[in-house]
Amino acid sequence: MQRSVIRSVGSYLPQRILTNAELATMVDTSDEWIVERTGICQRHIAAEGEFTSHLAVKAAQAALDNAGIAASEIDLIVLATSTPDQTFPATAATVQAELGITQGAAFDIQAVCSGFVYALTIADNFIKSGSASNALVIGAETFSRILDWNDRGTCVLFGDGAGAVVVTAAQPGDEPGRGVLATRLRSDGRYRDKLYVDGGPSSTQTVGHLRMEGREVFKHAVTNISDVMGETLVQAGYEASQIDLFVPHQANRRILDGTARKFGLSTDKVVITVDQHGNTSAASIPLALDVARRDGRLHDGSLVLMEAMGGGFTWGAVLARW
Ligand SMILES: CC(C)(COP(=O)(O)OP(=O)(O)OC[C@H]1O[C@@H](n2cnc3c(N)ncnc32)[C@H](O)[C@@H]1OP(=O)(O)O)[C@@H](O)C(=O)NCCC(=O)NCCS
Repeated sequence: MQRSVIRSVGSYLPQRILTNAELATMVDTSDEWIVERTGICQRHIAAEGEFTSHLAVKAAQAALDNAGIAASEIDLIVLATSTPDQTFPATAATVQAELGITQGAAFDIQAVCSGFVYALTIADNFIKSGSASNALVIGAETFSRILDWNDRGTCVLFGDGAGAVVVTAAQPGDEPGRGVLATRLRSDGRYRDKLYVDGGPSSTQTVGHLRMEGREVFKHAVTNISDVMGETLVQAGYEASQIDLFVPHQANRRILDGTARKFGLSTDKVVITVDQHGNTSAASIPLALDVARRDGRLHDGSLVLMEAMGGGFTWGAVLARW
């Protein structure tokens, strides 16, 4: 059976940076409160007229360039987003057109902050089954558009951005040990009202705003994430001590630290971007991968564990050898 190998990563952040200090002039909050409770110092905000697809195209093009693969070779685009340009068509179709790709399939998937882990797992299965050879897996968000900027409990947490990876098929015997080693996805819809958007085409005919019971989300996060991380390691036959790089979804510094501590992962193995990016939902993992690639921590041969949890609840993990 053919395997999927992650060839490259690319990312894009909007230019505008919104600091905690600036936020404190908009809502009743402070830099101290935000840093202490979340670890976030700043986030990027998309410009007027800059859509999720625009961020996604820039990240995807960077990933293609870094892989040395032409857009015309891509036969699958899986784009994870909760902030599509339009209700339909899929933002993936816009990205496909912008990249000049006319073959294969392009679609969006919706798993909120777990979106990238879901999208990567879907692409892995398409490749393993022989349905695709060269995939673009993208996480792209403009959460600034669905925030209630009067709700200090949520508006301080999120930011905009996009990241992408190119995943290609490797034949048995080629590049031994490399590729996606194990994936695990979970969801439990009983918790759908803990983190949600209070609008939608079918229910209200509006886009709505993000609503969250922060403490409830926090309560489940480390347990859920740890479960899928453990299962992924067992499935692939690895121990936590063998992980070279832990790339968690960047929601909250306290959740990252708690999870890393549980698995005995030292801080030098944990990629942290939440301080600079905030929570960019489906984009946070590929954005963090790109930071680690650029600073040299992510390289060929790295054993990388990615995990995420988000609205739904959804959660999942992917273990891959770079
Ligand atoms: C959101 C979160 C940071 C809030 O931290 P917390 O310690 O749970 O704080 P609480 O919500 O219990 O609020 C504590 C107090 O801080 C206040 N507060 C909330 N947001 C605030 C802000 N931005 N600035 C200042 N005070 C704030 C609350 O009003 C509350 O005040 P009160 O005690 O007078 O009622 C935390 O719950 C969290 O990170 N949850 C997980 C969120 C997450 O990761 N979501 C995405 C998952 S993908």
